[in-house]
Amino acid sequence: MMIFAGVLAGGTGTRMGNYTIPKQFLTIADRPIIAHVIDKFIVHNGIDKVIVGVNADWYQYMTDIQEKYYKGMDKLVVVPGGSDRNSTINAIVAKTKEISGSSEDILVTHDAVRPFVTLKMISENIDAAKKYGVCDTVMPATDTIVYSSNGEYITDIPLRSSTYQGQTPQSFNIKLFEEVYSSMTEEELKVVTDACKMFMLRGHKVHLVEGSVSNMKITYPYDYKIAQIMMENPEDDMFTV
Ligand code: CTP
Repeated sequence: MMIFAGVLAGGTGTRMGNYTIPKQFLTIADRPIIAHVIDKFIVHNGIDKVIVGVNADWYQYMTDIQEKYYKGMDKLVVVPGGSDRNSTINAIVAKTKEISGSSEDILVTHDAVRPFVTLKMISENIDAAKKYGVCDTVMPATDTIVYSSNGEYITDIPLRSSTYQGQTPQSFNIKLFEEVYSSMTEEELKVVTDACKMFMLRGHKVHLVEGSVSNMKITYPYDYKIAQIMMENPEDDMFTV
């Protein structure tokens, strides 16, 4: 049985606006954001291999980063990602099968733009994926979540105490992922961008793992600014737990 980390870097960060490189390659404290993410999984001793699924146009750029920061470390592998998030996961899964292929293997997937994931969250993901088959990292919603099915007016306001914001890691048994992914119809694949939603659609219970406010995703330039400030203040213990 092997435990893999899958770093999802197949996107190009269109919501970031005017940068010439995808957001995962922008630097914080002189190190690419994606390297901060890879570092967490490299140092975690429960992870056997880290597989980065990178946008195909940026494959060479990523292997340059690998050469510069992780030379000689065979714990890190880079593969081209896919056109949507789930197909990037699927490309990573294909690589895990070349490496192992036991029916017990686990994949911990994580966004390449969430550099503040903690070792504790990774450990809890591994445990939950082993125990339940699939899990998602979430934090209790701070704002009230308002649902609108039409984008014009509110169609529901769920009870705040039952609403959460989805983060990553999202982790699962690889064999289960293959079963679920291969059963998706074309239509489902178009609308289901979240991996955990696929498991739900096929009747699997996706267990909750506790995330945190600091495990933010860099989506907009504003998030990038916040992330830089957070990185300058490591005394807030977000790196160690
Ligand atoms: N992702 C991926 N493969 C894709 C698309 C997205 O691995 N084909 C990854 C992104 O690289 C990112 C994560 O999924 O790490 C979360 O997605 P998001 O923040 O939406 O990233 P982008 O798609 O890059 O951004 P945008 O939606 O602004 O274009």
